[in-house]
Amino acid sequence: MNAVELDSLGLTLGRRPILRDVTLAVREGEFVGVLGPNGAGKTTLFRAILGLLKPAAGTIRVFGETARPGNAAIGYLAQSRSALPQLHLSGREFIASSIRGERYGLPILGPEGRRQLDEALDLVGAREIAARPLSAMSGGERQRLLFAQALIGHPKLLLLDEPLISLDPRRQREVVELARRLCRELGITVLFSAHELSQLFGAIDRVLYLGNGHAALGTIDEVIRPAVLSPLYGSEIEVVRANGHIFILSGDARVEEDPHLHEHHDHGHEHHDHGHS
Ligand SMILES: Nc1ncnc2c1ncn2[C@@H]1O[C@H](COP(=O)(O)OP(=O)(O)OP(=O)(O)O)[C@@H](O)[C@H]1O
Ligand SMILES: [Mg+2]
Repeated sequence: MNAVELDSLGLTLGRRPILRDVTLAVREGEFVGVLGPNGAGKTTLFRAILGLLKPAAGTIRVFGETARPGNAAIGYLAQSRSALPQLHLSGREFIASSIRGERYGLPILGPEGRRQLDEALDLVGAREIAARPLSAMSGGERQRLLFAQALIGHPKLLLLDEPLISLDPRRQREVVELARRLCRELGITVLFSAHELSQLFGAIDRVLYLGNGHAALGTIDEVIRPAVLSPLYGSEIEVVRANGHIFILSGDARVEEDPHLHEHHDHGHEHHDHGHS
């Protein structure tokens, strides 16, 4: 069975077309890197798979069923998370409050909730980290905690939206390895968005590249080619391989961007103010 099937999918935000007539399928158990310039629609696609945005055209199926909100088969790590609220909470309390779907108030879990929480924390090796307050964690440690949060309830599909932002290269590698391990050992299908292909090199099975309303899904060799990428960027693209790296160039400039440290305010939902972050 396919994990995600897009059939003639069109997505629009406001009046703005984000994806047009996209048909593709992600197989169960695949690790797919989702790439594309800022604004290409990576986050929008994830939200649509989550059932938070209805297709303007076509269909989205998740494990054979039409995408719908509250699908327990999907775990989600959202992109907009630079300001975790409630920094005084311990990692455990923070996740516990999300299990109960509460933002405020005392997060108290029953035995079953505690078991699920420990299980998820153990999967990412964060049980000890989670005993500390959020304020006493590094960016990478918080990221692992949020990873655990996404794993609660045994999702079969993980949507990880830019989990590498603001991590140093070594931590980035750890997060990629972790996602790959979960994919391989638990058979979880992973869609992992990132800003540079090199961050995912050697780990992903296929790449889903978005741009200019279009999408291309295939192996790196199939997709990272001028003929495929030029329409996605709307300009002549050159692909240069050197020392195990791939550079995507338009004219003389690299078009892949560095992971942005500042999150933009996107769809107006589920947002906290980022303040000074
Ligand atoms: N409510 C809205 N109405 C119209 N356009 C919107 C709305 N919300 C977002 N957009 C635009 O939709 C486009 C797709 O945004 P999206 O966040 O999905 O891109 P992305 O690929 O995740 O980008 P990034 O790499 O910056 O995270 C962007 O150009 C964004 O400005
Ligand atoms: Mg995004």
